[in-house]
Amino acid sequence: MKNLLAYTLLLIIGFVTALYFGFYHMMPKSATTFDDEQTGLKDQLVFKFSHVVADNTPKGLAAKKFAELVHEKSDGRISIQIFSNGSLYSDIEEINALKENQVQFIAPSTSKLGMLSPEWLALDLPFAFSNYDAVQEGLHGAIGQRLFGTLQKDGLKGMAYWTNGFKQITSNKGPIKQPSDLKKQSLRIMQSDMIEKQFKLLGAKPYQESFNSTFQLLETKKVDGEENTISNIYSKKFYHIQDYMTISNHGYLGYVVLTDQSFFDRQTPETKRILLEAMEETTAWNEKHAEQMNKDQLEDIKRESPIAIHELTPAERQKWMKALDPLYDEAERIIGSTLIKQIRELRARYEYSPIQAFEEDAETK
Ligand code: SIN
Repeated sequence: MKNLLAYTLLLIIGFVTALYFGFYHMMPKSATTFDDEQTGLKDQLVFKFSHVVADNTPKGLAAKKFAELVHEKSDGRISIQIFSNGSLYSDIEEINALKENQVQFIAPSTSKLGMLSPEWLALDLPFAFSNYDAVQEGLHGAIGQRLFGTLQKDGLKGMAYWTNGFKQITSNKGPIKQPSDLKKQSLRIMQSDMIEKQFKLLGAKPYQESFNSTFQLLETKKVDGEENTISNIYSKKFYHIQDYMTISNHGYLGYVVLTDQSFFDRQTPETKRILLEAMEETTAWNEKHAEQMNKDQLEDIKRESPIAIHELTPAERQKWMKALDPLYDEAERIIGSTLIKQIRELRARYEYSPIQAFEEDAETK
């Protein structure tokens, strides 16, 4: 009898344990973490912010600043958990994760939004922005507004544009000074058809791969090089495994902070106010620090590594612009003329004139 009781007890314990662990692993991820309407301990709200870069980058630091401001403004009631370095989702997965409410904030590079609406590809046009002022004018003005409008059809809300900086090219195959130096070089690029067209036009072999696979692709020599901002080249240590870098400033890399519109609509007016205010302050902070960060990290790269660095002269820049100019007409065919016209006008207002460039180049010789 005693034995029977012991067996029954054991059986029940075994059954309950199996049930618990079995169901625990079957539960959807979000259910084990949080639910945005949940007001658990002391009415705390916990939101997740996922991104793919390192913490010591313009985006990494801005995400941290946003979390701090939200915490401060809500007296600790709202907590933003940050998952950097693609630790939660890769750049390919994060938009879906946002739509499925697995995360509540992401900040993909604008280049990666071309997969939602082709208009975003306009920002990838080569030499579209000559400096940070041009970027701010464009994104805070009609261009930025127009692009935000495209997000509605996907149920997304653009909360802000954050900046990183201008892209440079690194390679192991040889120095890159002329557009023709890129011929036959294989490069990892972001998921953007406009960037792909740009490198193909120069005879290179671009591969659209995730950001977090880049180091390995370079290290295992699956590609010769890549293009990125100094802060990404520095924080991900690409410069340790590349022999050449060209300061080309040929393209802009910035971000859109996205949230799901229906998630946002569900929040109380007070929570919305806190999130919007914190986002506005963070954006101003990001704009103030991103440029300097890229400058400082370029100096760190020069100090820390023997990588050979070439900066395009104004005359060389003109050659690159000329070689890549046909993309503007192609973009008009794909995206339509209104946005491209706005980009062309902005570029004309900020870009060096060819004559000025040649004169400055002659002066430095
Ligand atoms: C990022 O800055 O978010 C990543 C850029 C890249 O994919 O190269």
